[in-house]
Amino acid sequence: MRFGLFLFTVIASLVPPAAHSTPSTRPPLARAIEAEIEAKVTALLGQMTLEEKVGQLNFPSYAFPSEPQIEAVKKGRIGSLLNVAHPDHVRLFEEAAQASRLKIPLLFAIDSIHSFHVAFPTPIAWAATWRPELAERATEAIAQETAQVGVNLTFAPMIDISRDPRWGRVIEGAGEDPYLASAFSAARVRGYHKGGLATSAKHFVGYGAPEGGREYNGAQISMPELFDRYIPPFQAAVEAGTETVMASFNTVNGVPVTANRLLITDVLKGRLGFDGLVMSDFAAIKELVNHGVAGDLSEAAAKAIRAGIDLDMEGKAYDTHLAENVHAGRVAMADIDAAVRRVLRVKYRMGLFPDSPGGARKVPPPIAEAAVRKTARTVARESFVLLKNSGATLPITPQSGTIALIGAAALSTNDHSWYGPAGLEKPVTENLRDALQARIGKSQKLLFADAFADPCGQAFADKDKAVETAKAADLIVLVLAEDCAVSGEGASRTDLRLSSVHTEMLDALAKAGKPIALVLETGRPLALTGASEKVASLLIAWHPGTEGRTALAEVLTGEIAPSGKLPMTFPRSVGQVPISYNDLPTSRPSTGDRFTTGYVDEKPTPLYPFGHGLSYTTFRYSGLKISAPEMGRDGQVEIRVDVQNTGSRAGQEVAQLYTHQLVASRSRPLQELKGFKKIGLAPGEKETVRFMLKASDLAYHDDEGKPVIEPGRFKVFVGGSSAAELEGAFQISGP
Ligand code: BGC
Repeated sequence: MRFGLFLFTVIASLVPPAAHSTPSTRPPLARAIEAEIEAKVTALLGQMTLEEKVGQLNFPSYAFPSEPQIEAVKKGRIGSLLNVAHPDHVRLFEEAAQASRLKIPLLFAIDSIHSFHVAFPTPIAWAATWRPELAERATEAIAQETAQVGVNLTFAPMIDISRDPRWGRVIEGAGEDPYLASAFSAARVRGYHKGGLATSAKHFVGYGAPEGGREYNGAQISMPELFDRYIPPFQAAVEAGTETVMASFNTVNGVPVTANRLLITDVLKGRLGFDGLVMSDFAAIKELVNHGVAGDLSEAAAKAIRAGIDLDMEGKAYDTHLAENVHAGRVAMADIDAAVRRVLRVKYRMGLFPDSPGGARKVPPPIAEAAVRKTARTVARESFVLLKNSGATLPITPQSGTIALIGAAALSTNDHSWYGPAGLEKPVTENLRDALQARIGKSQKLLFADAFADPCGQAFADKDKAVETAKAADLIVLVLAEDCAVSGEGASRTDLRLSSVHTEMLDALAKAGKPIALVLETGRPLALTGASEKVASLLIAWHPGTEGRTALAEVLTGEIAPSGKLPMTFPRSVGQVPISYNDLPTSRPSTGDRFTTGYVDEKPTPLYPFGHGLSYTTFRYSGLKISAPEMGRDGQVEIRVDVQNTGSRAGQEVAQLYTHQLVASRSRPLQELKGFKKIGLAPGEKETVRFMLKASDLAYHDDEGKPVIEPGRFKVFVGGSSAAELEGAFQISGP
């Protein structure tokens, strides 16, 4: 048994389940406290040697056992460490910091993203719930687990907007939409704070828009687009009080963000008013040499600090070359002081010093594994997206007859996804076959064939047996998992179709002539043209985590109705990518005619649009009302719509509000999400959903990145997806 598991088992047995209801929300610090912090920082800075200042900016990966690192901490040459996940090791380093001349505490950071011990579904799945409060509960629980080992900072939330599912890291974000992603960004920051961790909003900015979807590749983003699309989630994280921000690896408009003074100092620290610390990404300062903007490590250090990068994560550039740059006059002492001030400010804000003016940091009490699992189950249940359900094939009922469950993923108890702090064992997970068996009656048969040699289906085990099993059943439930190695960092794809092995299996099963319900575990939108026509039902399960397969069985059998909606467009083919619902209009809207926008070999529309997701019941939207036909630049309108459950089962629906400005100085997106609300309705029940829309919500950014509210006519669309058909209009009046 690894230490992490042991620790949690012990903790879980000591703590009553109710303990998790005592969050330690970190309230924004009062001005007087901030002033006291600044005074303390100034006093401390005044006592520091240049070496000690540089030490506070040095953020290496920990290597254990590491006498040299312990000695470096004692000498004040290391201010933060990443990837320490063992409480004894944390303690040794803390003691070393206390043995240093100025006793400045360390930041201990780790990638606690969707799991520490209990695995939650992945962040893209959280976004598919369209309930930011669930992401808040998830991150609170993850933080509480993480904080118990002494870690005080998470490298999360990752809030890069991406319209390109070729990019593997879409799994870590909230998808393509700035409004939805901003809501999740703030919620994730709040949750981590409640659970006792400081946050790092990452990766500022434009990392999710690499050309060709190719990992680490540069992005070309105009100023208006930067502010309209990519910056809002960071603004939301800053407003929610993120203590740190991580700069992205790539170039934006030709300049690596790590050396980009415009983006880091002028935009992030200036325009967004971020006064916490900015860290580089892993070895990113060193990699400025590869980018070709620095001749050597010393020049890289100088460029990064001048751009406004306060912490050097694993680049060893500041540690080895900052002092020499100061002595040579290439870096001003004021730049070093400004960076150290931010680091110390954050450490005081986090309460790491015993005399921190806001009070010393309190780690919230640990919570029982059962309570964390309950939250993980709730998140999973609401994250599944039912893209298709012809003939009400799902849910499985006694009338479905004999079920053939096909696919090795149905035996899997693994999360298949990237990132969990290294080396920690995950808790026991029920597999889908057992979870389904426990739910369908004894009188109903559940047949099973693994079909593949491994859960991700890289090779066949026995294809023929799978076909025979399918033939003996009335309904086929095929479970496919996107190849384990192709999600997350360094996992860009050029092909978004099902693998050839999966496709061959699906084709063979389709010939069996029985309806197929396809359950897909995936970290990104896939191009499912072809596959989707062969199946009656298609359920996106993402990577559902520790409680995920149990939740999946609940949804497949109708105990719970699916209620997720896509946070990212599913394209018809990879050639359409990047594609999103909020594209700009073109000179020739698509009509099917050759000389209108589109492709000669593919439709211009996505296979499944942003916001789409079915339930086991149906909903009708009616009675759209806008409180006023006109408003001024400082005005607001209320938009109301009636949503009725028109089916025979209870279900949840996400009512979505979109707008489009018809005429403006720049082309405005065909639709922009401006509001959403998830509601639960009993059969026949009707609810009026209300959205408040301020004129300022309709602002966009000009060439300088300044917000403008431009008078004009706006269309409003309301419905259960971006294909919403109920339409209205209003006007913003003014000169
Ligand atoms: C990733 C970051 C991560 C860091 C530390 C980098 O490769 O881009 O998102 O936080 O490693 O693990």
